[in-house]
Amino acid sequence: MCGIVGILGSKPVAEDLVEALRRLEYRGYDSAGVATVENGHLERRRAEGKLRNLETALRAEPLTGTTGIGHTRWATHGKPTVRNAHPHMSAKVSVVHNGIIENYRELKAELTAKGHKFESDTDTEAVVHLVTDGLDNGLAPADAVKAALRHLTGAFALGIIFAGHDDLMIAARQGSPLALGHGDGEMYLGSDAIALAPFTDRITYLEEGDWAVLTRGGAEIFDRAGHRVARQIIKSSANSLLVDKGNHRHFMAKEIHEQPQVISQTLAAYIDMAKSAIDYPDLGIDLGDITRVTISACGTAYYAGLVGKYWIERVARVPVEIDIASELRYREAPLPKGGLAVFVSQSGETADTLATLRYCKAEGQRIASIVNVRTSTIARESDAALPTLAGPEIGVASTKAFTCQLSALACLAIAIGRAKGTISAEKESELVTALAEVPRIIAGMLTDESPYEELAQHLSKARDVLYLGRGINYPIALEGALKLKEISYLHAEGYAAGELKHGPIALIDENVPVIVVAPEDELFEKTISNLQEVAARGGQIILISDAEPELAGCKLAAYIRVPHAHAFTNPLVYAVPIQLIAYHTAVFMGTDVDQPRNLAKSVTVE
Ligand code: G6P
Repeated sequence: MCGIVGILGSKPVAEDLVEALRRLEYRGYDSAGVATVENGHLERRRAEGKLRNLETALRAEPLTGTTGIGHTRWATHGKPTVRNAHPHMSAKVSVVHNGIIENYRELKAELTAKGHKFESDTDTEAVVHLVTDGLDNGLAPADAVKAALRHLTGAFALGIIFAGHDDLMIAARQGSPLALGHGDGEMYLGSDAIALAPFTDRITYLEEGDWAVLTRGGAEIFDRAGHRVARQIIKSSANSLLVDKGNHRHFMAKEIHEQPQVISQTLAAYIDMAKSAIDYPDLGIDLGDITRVTISACGTAYYAGLVGKYWIERVARVPVEIDIASELRYREAPLPKGGLAVFVSQSGETADTLATLRYCKAEGQRIASIVNVRTSTIARESDAALPTLAGPEIGVASTKAFTCQLSALACLAIAIGRAKGTISAEKESELVTALAEVPRIIAGMLTDESPYEELAQHLSKARDVLYLGRGINYPIALEGALKLKEISYLHAEGYAAGELKHGPIALIDENVPVIVVAPEDELFEKTISNLQEVAARGGQIILISDAEPELAGCKLAAYIRVPHAHAFTNPLVYAVPIQLIAYHTAVFMGTDVDQPRNLAKSVTVE
């Protein structure tokens, strides 16, 4: 899973390829490379690690070709070394690939038997040799690619250039997103429109199975069956400016601080503030008829969905099934005809979520997606796309996208509740007013981060950290542990506080910090009992609460005071301290906060 780009330009393209790759780094940053057609032959530069290493390689040995492709990698097959970095190439063809070629082993065996020599451990190289084989047999480039595509199974977005062809680039899409960009006498391809935003805002999204022959004069697009098809050119709103960190040290810090504003914006899309009522977009389904909701997502978005389950079940009295996207699809869950399936995704491109969406669609579900990128595949394939207005999220660890997802889900719960008559107009107004208060409460919480800096030093010494939460705040404990793992590399687990005694309590000794998310709500006393169980075994308790610290009834290693909020909105409010704990711990430990090791922001492989 990776980012790809291609340019048929009017001047040397290497620098622009790198600029586009910078905007795709969220898709992976293990290694990067570019290849160009240099006086008729193919040349490439590749480097391990971040893009700056590729820039150094290009400075040492510049490329001057005006036709080129580029790649930023998140390793799937083969270690992130130069040898495995894209572009992969033969003397005749060079390929960049996002996705996984599932049958590459068979292809490699066949092609090796024919005398092709593989140089890398990647699945992608099979494409190089397959196309080369066609060219060796006298096929023209487009015919060689067309023939090769018939042999590929799996997911891919491909960009291909050819030796001896300065005005030719081929793009192909199956399962991984791919956009074409139209310039004046220039053509582009990229994993998304954001990558192409510095060059053009005229974008064509390829559809599943499409492949396209690009020249500087335009693109000829073909569908899976090889028929010439017309695909719309749309004006993309992707911003050509790369968002910057402002006064913050990291994108993650900036994004945490943007939350009051982006939560407000997101709530405004679903709430009529003047009437203190929900104003939810039409989902093309009568919300009053819903008998079951199925939610599916990955990572942080899954935890947002889990909070959504608590909200919808509590407010609308509708049973909600929630599953990790990669699980729902394969367990062939029976879904009631006409049910509502909700997908939560920041990027709108997560492969597992998308595949599950398609499964649910085939099962006759009405599809609603809560997405941050409106032009994404998930948004485009949904019956109703419900936007989160978080703006671009650059930090790999999701923060503002999460709280915006929560905002949209809270409003969805109220909308269903109102349609089903499970809440009165007064209750609706109470909940909406509580939501409208959240940005102000969070802004207040972001004025002093010194308690987190102190706590970070303490946590950095731990080997394991436990997070506990109950009820609707249990997913916040899970998200807290995920955040800490992702960016500080400390081992952390989240548990339902009541589950502690059924296993995790065995881990507790005086070296294990236990972070307890415990608002003073109807479950507070129960959580405090679990906290006592930790105290009795010498665990170091870090309490995050609006209750006075004395109420814990034991010695606390640290106490994070949270302003009092309506119990309905606590997941939004308590999301902030768990983000700040992870952030400051990672900063103290000196890890790469915005681009943590092994992760990628958008995971477009299964
Ligand atoms: C990756 C990211 C996570 C994100 C998850 C789902 O694992 O690192 O931060 O929560 O994908 O991504 P999505 O774009 O679907 O929300």
